[in-house]
Amino acid sequence: MIIAVDGPTASGKGTIARALAAHYGLPCLDTGLLYRAVGVHTVELGGDPDREEDAFRGAAFPEELLDDPELRTEASGALASRASRHPVVRQALLDRQRNFAAQPGGAILDGRDIGTVICPDADAKLFVTGSTEARAIRRHAEMVERGLDVSLVAITADLRERDARDTGRSAAPLACADDAALLDTSNLTIEEAVREAIALVDAQLERHHIV
Ligand code: C5P
Repeated sequence: MIIAVDGPTASGKGTIARALAAHYGLPCLDTGLLYRAVGVHTVELGGDPDREEDAFRGAAFPEELLDDPELRTEASGALASRASRHPVVRQALLDRQRNFAAQPGGAILDGRDIGTVICPDADAKLFVTGSTEARAIRRHAEMVERGLDVSLVAITADLRERDARDTGRSAAPLACADDAALLDTSNLTIEEAVREAIALVDAQLERHHIV
């Protein structure tokens, strides 16, 4: 059973994907982390994530990098967003994601193009979204809690920029698959969003006669 969870930054898709993984007992791949590793490694090599050749070299990142907490920063997210628009980078990460999805028993993948490109035949698809304001407030609160000194205005501007880049690129843009269930988390608590996500996935699995 494959579950695809897509959506923009700070929509709650990562939290929801992990909760679904625990609920259905499936392994979960945060595909954003792979693109973050590409962006960070590109810079480590002295390259520029906007340059296709540089970003492609960055795609051969060492596995240990995936455990580096540096990958979780906003700066790494921005580098990822720049590196991820190159088709050669997306191609370099394709097999790894498809192999993860194909493991016996199935898997959950979260990202931007899981339901549209990586696993178009997924058994259940969610597109998790939220208003820019709600997502910015959430991201700001997370960062303040981590002791970071950032303004809500700056976070909002960063989110808008990342959304525009992820939605506007020609290679596998952030998009809701035609057959995905939409989950708007703007006015939901984490518990409510997770409950709703499970209900939406169960309904799709029932439709596909999987449960
Ligand atoms: O999800 P996360 O914020 O970690 O993703 C970082 C960036 O990686 C996104 O802004 C997006 O540009 C890119 N990404 C992507 N496709 C995915 C996952 C992430 O292009 N499947």
